[in-house]
Amino acid sequence: MKEAHDVLVIGSGAAGLTAALALAESRKVLVLAKGQLTSGSTAWAQGGIAAVLDTGDTFENHIRDTMVAGAGLNDLETVEFVIERAPAAIDRLCDLGVPFNREEDDLHLTREGGHSHRRIVHVNDATGWAVQAALLKAAEENPNITLLPNQSCIDLVTGRNQKEYSGSGRVWGAYALDAESGKVVTHVARATVMAAGGAGRVYLFSTAPRGATGDGIAMAWRAGARVSNMEMMQFHPTCLYNLEVKNFLITEAVRGEGGRLYNPATGERYMASYDAERMELAPRDIVARANDDQIKRHGLDYVHLDISHQPPEFVRQHFPTIHEKLLGLGIDMTEEPIPVVPAQHYTCGGIKIGLDAKTDLPGLWAAGECTESGLHGANRLASNSLLECFVFGEAAAKDILECWDQLGDPPEILPWDESRVTDSDEEVVIKQNWTEIRRFMWNYVGIVRTTKRLERAAHRIRMLREEVEDYYGHFRVTTDLIELRNLLECAGLIVNSALKRRESRGLHFILDFPETDPVARDTLLIP
Ligand code: FAD
Ligand code: SIN
Repeated sequence: MKEAHDVLVIGSGAAGLTAALALAESRKVLVLAKGQLTSGSTAWAQGGIAAVLDTGDTFENHIRDTMVAGAGLNDLETVEFVIERAPAAIDRLCDLGVPFNREEDDLHLTREGGHSHRRIVHVNDATGWAVQAALLKAAEENPNITLLPNQSCIDLVTGRNQKEYSGSGRVWGAYALDAESGKVVTHVARATVMAAGGAGRVYLFSTAPRGATGDGIAMAWRAGARVSNMEMMQFHPTCLYNLEVKNFLITEAVRGEGGRLYNPATGERYMASYDAERMELAPRDIVARANDDQIKRHGLDYVHLDISHQPPEFVRQHFPTIHEKLLGLGIDMTEEPIPVVPAQHYTCGGIKIGLDAKTDLPGLWAAGECTESGLHGANRLASNSLLECFVFGEAAAKDILECWDQLGDPPEILPWDESRVTDSDEEVVIKQNWTEIRRFMWNYVGIVRTTKRLERAAHRIRMLREEVEDYYGHFRVTTDLIELRNLLECAGLIVNSALKRRESRGLHFILDFPETDPVARDTLLIP
């Protein structure tokens, strides 16, 4: 089955829907999601969106904070490009009806780690849900946008899939497994925007949703696009520690509004030993490493995050979602500390893009967490990620519309070939390998790294690759198999990048190379 559209957008989160809405002013757009349309990280975002809106704040401050958090690996031109567009992005969201918290006529600004000023606009502690809902409503009401859930893209369609074979990496859409029919559909388009989110689920513990398996990064890499800085995996310092609820985030805004970290065994407010000046509001990599160090050194299961010194009404008002969720688990955060642990949270590396959101591949643009735009460098500043989605979603749409006439009509594309595969008889292989990857990535490629552990991980990846490719070559695809193949691809990219960086910088902390090189360089992988 073949479906043709002007533009194909892979992903219905903040990046994909922003691009779709801008493109739909003059083009017909098809937006795909794996699972539900709200399945990405966007809907889960808590803290908010960073933007300079206060008269006492400046773009220069926000730029400096972003570069400091990113340990100088950021691209200054990109940082300026994004930060200067933040106020306009917030205006567009207000126009779409996002009900940001207000203080009289102004938007209320909260604070998070690494920010020298209050500059986070938010909808209580559930900003992402409100943003996702507003974008989806606008897309649903737009006659030029078709939203199609339950489509697991397998690979990009390129010149290699043309009926008249071409070795060209020109992208003409994607093959996707339609979960309802079980058939593989060929979605052909003149232009494709990759906005498939991050790869957080490559780790055993992650705040990211189940579908964050790095599909977009892996698809673009297999099609021939470069990826960069994949070793820069961000760990959030404060994920709830609970034996049943494994990936519930406790927003950084809790620390922004006064929350303190304590060692539950000694009662020490330990951040003074790691960053005496910024304490709990130091950038995320520093706080995550401090929590990890306390847990490992004292043999703890968790550390304590405490905001119970603030008035109960203040806590309930600022964090209604978290307060209610914790009450359901028997924790009253107005009266007692919250047990927390670090967990993977954000993929700073990804598909290399320029300011126009172009990738290396003609016909393919990319935006959001699946990309490496140069904004985040070696560590993302809190609440800069949604902002990046809005700015680069727009940039992709603008560039596609500008070069529309040169894009040409899609050629005839070969359908997905299922002639040599059968139904899988051993689904257990997929489950076993999923768990194995996530476990060794957590143990060997976590917050603190060594060359020896990275090499162990590389060895496991080589062995699993043979098994997974063999399985993929013989059996009909399922969403689990597609994800397993992509998880393994991303694990390989992370480990290769980590082995290449022979210094410690930002999120990449390696005991064999504790110093930071005088010059910051991207880790660029070429397929
Ligand atoms: P996503 O929103 O993750 O969307 C990905 C889309 O791609 C989904 O629609 C998915 O179904 C689709 N997709 C994936 N694979 C395929 C495939 N194979 N085929 C078809 N479709 C596919 N950032 C902030 O700036 N502020 C915050 O407060 C904040 N809080 C966060 C809290 C949590 C718990 C988490 C996990 C992240 C948070 N972040 C925050 C980060 C931010 O939410 C994400 O980086 C951002 O939402 C990513 O948006 P995106 O559009 O790139 O991808
Ligand atoms: C949080 O609310 O702590 C997450 C913010 C972010 O990831 O930017």
